[in-house]
Amino acid sequence: MSENQAGAKSRREFLSATGRTASVSALAGVALPHVHAAQDSTIQLALVGCGGRGTGAAINALSTKLGPTKLVAMADVVPAKMNSSYDKLKSQFADQVDVPPERRFMGYDAYKGALSALKKGDVVIHGTPPAFRWPHFELCIEKGLHCFMEKPVTVDGPSTRRMLKLGELSVQKNLKVGVGLMVRHCDARRELHDRIRSGQIGEIISMRAYRMGQGGGLAPPKPAGMSEVAYQISRFHAFLWASGGVFSDYYIHQIDECSWMKGAWPVHAHGMGGRHYRGDSLDQNFDTYSVQFVYPDGTRLFFDGRNMKGARDEFASYAHGTNGSAVISTRVHAPGRCRIYKGHNIPWVESAKDSLPENDPNLVWAFPQPEKSPYQLEWDHLMEAIREDKFFNEVKRGCEASLVTSMGRMAAHTGRIITYEQILNSDHEFAPNAHLLTEDGPAPLQLGPDGKYPVPQPGIITNREY
Ligand SMILES: NC(=O)c1ccc[n+]([C@@H]2O[C@H](COP(=O)([O-])OP(=O)(O)OC[C@H]3O[C@@H](n4cnc5c(N)ncnc54)[C@H](O)[C@@H]3O)[C@@H](O)[C@H]2O)c1
Repeated sequence: MSENQAGAKSRREFLSATGRTASVSALAGVALPHVHAAQDSTIQLALVGCGGRGTGAAINALSTKLGPTKLVAMADVVPAKMNSSYDKLKSQFADQVDVPPERRFMGYDAYKGALSALKKGDVVIHGTPPAFRWPHFELCIEKGLHCFMEKPVTVDGPSTRRMLKLGELSVQKNLKVGVGLMVRHCDARRELHDRIRSGQIGEIISMRAYRMGQGGGLAPPKPAGMSEVAYQISRFHAFLWASGGVFSDYYIHQIDECSWMKGAWPVHAHGMGGRHYRGDSLDQNFDTYSVQFVYPDGTRLFFDGRNMKGARDEFASYAHGTNGSAVISTRVHAPGRCRIYKGHNIPWVESAKDSLPENDPNLVWAFPQPEKSPYQLEWDHLMEAIREDKFFNEVKRGCEASLVTSMGRMAAHTGRIITYEQILNSDHEFAPNAHLLTEDGPAPLQLGPDGKYPVPQPGIITNREY
């Protein structure tokens, strides 16, 4: 059976067997009535952090079809980033981009200007490095603004505690908040989740996930004339305070998707990693990580991360049950190409273009191709919730996903078993002054006397990561 045939047939059977009604995503694209029908129903947007993903999220926001949207303000700390983002958005969405120079704000307080351009009920897109999430979100709550914030939402225990409180406040104020763990909005993963939860692969006994690529998170020396703060932010994947490093910034998606399929958050983690081939890079990352996340029932997610040129790439997540196995991610985040197999022989997929073996006797189900983009679906769902005033607040889940990811990272960085309670109650806040940073002020991380930033030393520094 081919991927598409298996998908089409068994999806029909599954939906009729479970009696599931049309999912929210099935309604995307249908014009729905909204509460302000008689008024101007335009939802205004501000983009804070106009880099690759922020601009991508703005494209998704402006592409939603449930009602009019308009980008009215932008904020960044690097003029070139702002300019290229503006040009790209304006060329694609001429009538929906109304951001004259006076509403393009620059600098570490720029977000305040951009938020002031909005009215209550509008939406802020948070596309900065994660360190700025909580101060920016705090002001959104004060102003009654809905949010879409990219993951991770926190990078350590103290910022998670703060963010959890802000999340509660945003729920009390009925704010709708999306967190960029877009896989949760993917149709293929949602159907796979329903199938796994209904027992189609039996009880999950182990999961595996791999994010192995050709490097990342490096920091060549600071260019002359650049401030220390600007440098660290421009290389945010290199520094734990800014992003949680590659571990948090890259690996969170797969740790989250596996935990979702399992129906639980891991309670402790242990693992390892090392720096072997980072050359003169000044970053704080390891180039390999191998971490076991342990769930309340004792089962494990085995996670391997590698950032190393020349080694084999893999970017996939799998679940193994007592009665079969499942592919959660085949190769990168989208398309998911989710599948269920009899037994545990899952064919390798070496490249995104690889087709799967025809007539695989072990294939039980495959989500039909092509799939809708989960980046678009997460916005369709958020906008629908705003317009229909439905509960939509992903902050708690985003905090939990960010926290368990930090738990795994800390386990590898310290060489210790780290529990959920330990990471949650940890007192090492990497950037307590994120809200006060200025271009020329002191940076959260200082060079040591050897001209290098501190790096984790497992077994030597064991109660904090550096
Ligand atoms: N969900 C996904 O699949 C996905 C993919 C890529 C990135 N992301 C997330 O998106 C976020 C941004 O990543 P990116 O790849 O777009 O990085 P990027 O460097 O392209 O963009 C970040 C932007 O934020 C700006 N910025 C930094 N500090 C700022 C501040 N204090 N105020 C205003 N602007 C500020 C930078 O100048 C830059 O333009 C990260 O949290 C990352 O993890 C998510």
